[in-house]
Amino acid sequence: MPDKPDTVAAVTDWDPDTYERDAKAALESASTSEEVESVSVSFLGRRSPLKQSLREVRDRETGMRLNAMRQAIESAVADKLARVQAEELDEKLTTENVDVTLPAEMLGTIRPRRRGSLHPSTQVRRDVEDIFLGLGYEVVDDREVETTRYNFDALGFPDWHPARSPRASLYLTDDTLLRTETSPAQIHKMERQRPPIYMLSIGRVYRRDTIDATHFPIFHQFEGLAIDKGITMADLKGTLLYVMRQLYGPEREVRFRTHYFPFTEPSMEPDVSCPICGGSGCATCKHSGFLEMGGSGMVDPYLYEFVGWDPDEYTGFAFGMGIERTAQLRHGIPGIRPFWENDLRFLRQF
Ligand code: DAH
Repeated sequence: MPDKPDTVAAVTDWDPDTYERDAKAALESASTSEEVESVSVSFLGRRSPLKQSLREVRDRETGMRLNAMRQAIESAVADKLARVQAEELDEKLTTENVDVTLPAEMLGTIRPRRRGSLHPSTQVRRDVEDIFLGLGYEVVDDREVETTRYNFDALGFPDWHPARSPRASLYLTDDTLLRTETSPAQIHKMERQRPPIYMLSIGRVYRRDTIDATHFPIFHQFEGLAIDKGITMADLKGTLLYVMRQLYGPEREVRFRTHYFPFTEPSMEPDVSCPICGGSGCATCKHSGFLEMGGSGMVDPYLYEFVGWDPDEYTGFAFGMGIERTAQLRHGIPGIRPFWENDLRFLRQF
């Protein structure tokens, strides 16, 4: 037992006649196991008067007397310690009743572990994937480095189209670039598989845009494509309406404005009744009651010819939109920049 500084009963005088009684009195007044230990150190420890005397014993009789005294004190210590420890256990059991079902944050001393959350873009992405999987679509995130053949030629972009300019797109070589839209994935799919095709291409796209509130050189798109026999614009509108209602609520309406895209004919921009004001007009929808959602149209027969199909055999529709924009509308996030800044003060809100 290591020597400890005397805290309870310092033994000063060595008087063999009173030693045992003193020790027992000290034990009597000790009320915690620590105090008992300390009495034990004082009276039995290496530097206690008893141990010192035992070391100096010369005659057998004194030795026997002192040893008997040591044994008596030792057993008194053991008795007392057992009693005190039992009391302490009792005390603990009655006062420290820990409710193991209590959430960690309610136990003042334990810091709750902070749960992470998915990035708002990832949340929308997963929702979109679920919606389309529910419609029986295959989800594809294809390559991000594309050739101009798949990114532009196959999709009917004329030579002069401004998107082909290195000022608009991020080129790696003369004929490879970071994909500017998710549509090339559709061509790859069409080369692999004959209709019916129901696919969602989803993932990152890149444009050489200057960063401002609504532009960022990287963003995410999702794009539905359905090609089959007898598909009409009514199918496009019905599918869009379903997807928009899944994303923005059952009250949403969809309307079309005519537009132009190289890969659809006719092409339309779908508008959705404003999820913020419900269509009555607000700052977000510039008081029109509708928000522009992206692009859509009936697949241009040129694409079927490109992959070697008979353009009279199939019809199909496609529509594409932005994931960040979807998240912005769902949460009322004013700009696109926070999606890419990794500021935890922003990300923790979702
Ligand atoms: N690719 C177009 C864009 O990035 C969006 C788009 C328009 C996708 C029409 C389509 C579509 O599938 O049919 O601006």
